[in-house]
Amino acid sequence: MTDSDLSPAPVTPREPDTQTLGESAADLGFPDGFLWGAATAAYQVEGAVAEDGRGPSIWDTFSHTPGKVLGGDTGDVAVEHYHRYRSDVALMAELGLTAYRFSVAWPRVQPDGRGAINQAGLDFYRRLVDELLEHNIEPWLTLYHWDLPQPLEDAGGWPVRDTAERFAEYAAVVHDALGDRVKAWTTLNEPWCSAFLGYASGDHAPGRRDAASAVRAAHHLLLGHGLATQAMRAAGRDTQIGITLNLYAISAASDDPADVDAARRIDGIQNRLFLDAVLRGRYPADVLADFSTVTDLDHIRDGDLAIIGTPLDMLGINYYTRHVVAGPADPPSTAPAPWPGSEWVRFVSSGRPVTAMGWEIDSDGLLEVLRRVYAEYPTIPLYITENGAAFDDEVTSEGTVEDQDRIAYLDAHLTACHQAITSGVPLKGYFAWSLLDNFEWAWGYSKRFGLVYVDYLTQRRIPKASARWYAGVIARNGLVTSSED
Ligand code: FCB
Repeated sequence: MTDSDLSPAPVTPREPDTQTLGESAADLGFPDGFLWGAATAAYQVEGAVAEDGRGPSIWDTFSHTPGKVLGGDTGDVAVEHYHRYRSDVALMAELGLTAYRFSVAWPRVQPDGRGAINQAGLDFYRRLVDELLEHNIEPWLTLYHWDLPQPLEDAGGWPVRDTAERFAEYAAVVHDALGDRVKAWTTLNEPWCSAFLGYASGDHAPGRRDAASAVRAAHHLLLGHGLATQAMRAAGRDTQIGITLNLYAISAASDDPADVDAARRIDGIQNRLFLDAVLRGRYPADVLADFSTVTDLDHIRDGDLAIIGTPLDMLGINYYTRHVVAGPADPPSTAPAPWPGSEWVRFVSSGRPVTAMGWEIDSDGLLEVLRRVYAEYPTIPLYITENGAAFDDEVTSEGTVEDQDRIAYLDAHLTACHQAITSGVPLKGYFAWSLLDNFEWAWGYSKRFGLVYVDYLTQRRIPKASARWYAGVIARNGLVTSSED
């Protein structure tokens, strides 16, 4: 590998973005045309896993493996979005959403992960997209939200280079079929999770625990992203292409050198590895050095970084929390390190309140992330493609869900978005995670992130207080700071 040019790129100071904040009934008005959305992902909501020719994905296999998902939950039924998409789109329209972010299940479109296309699978997404367009809701399509066709995992999965080529082929198929009506395309959702939770910690499908495989998977995911971007661009359509990264605000617990180095490591593997690769076409030298302790790097070939750095039209950011980190315990842990360098990092609490996931609530961290990306990387339109919180929602005797904690979370994070825009950050839209309560991966159905409550026994949808609140935000294109809100 010669082209992963390791010198830091210069930071170019720039004029603030010229978005004008709208005049509206809101105290904190957002720019005209700001996109207001909600997000879901195929395996978390669709169900219908064996219908109309869909093949198995790594998440079907994983969730059916005893002990992998809390309570033995699976996505077999999920929230039946595959069958209920029409009424779900009607619900979105009632809330006033202007965009819906969903993902396409690769094994629905290409059950073997290569070769034959399953037309019935593509047709489902065409129907969904048409339904959205009829309701003036912009479809935001993600090509990969973690559900790799099982046959590709059997052939080696993301640690194998061929999977990147297969992903580009699949991307071109979906883009050919839907690129006339879907304008916003995202290649991958959170490749960090696919690589490091999937192949190193084993908390996610396919559940492997091998740090070297995870390092290779990360590169091949990014290569797949670059190849897919180029394949879609080659079609010459007026589509916008981006990627969604899960970025974190990172703080060292103290200025002790071990804590500062832990912050460098976690920032490196969570943020800079992916940002530098896709926006600068290079890998950070310190992260490669950390990786080289677990594997050689000969899977990174000449020319790969140029493909990975293919210019994008937008960057999606998923933000949930800040990581406060310290150096290793004394004596250091002897537990197997789930990812390269993890033995040097301890996650510590800052004492802030947490959500039902145990994630600290830190809206300043969102502002920090947005300002950092704007300052350090080439100007690129930004979208918050996920932000939200799980809380232990309950249905009251009146049949409502009064999730004031979620409203406070969303309000604080949207206030941070507003501040970012005011300081010139080119933030163009926000997607709440999630539209509906759904299958929260290894946590099964135990964690509720939805704006809309789902009764899993009856599939009844109950818009929570936060859904009504969000509808108000959308209607006035902004936030009110007075207590009547
Ligand atoms: C993100 C995932 C999304 C959801 C939220 C809570 O990491 O992209 O599918 O599970 O976390």
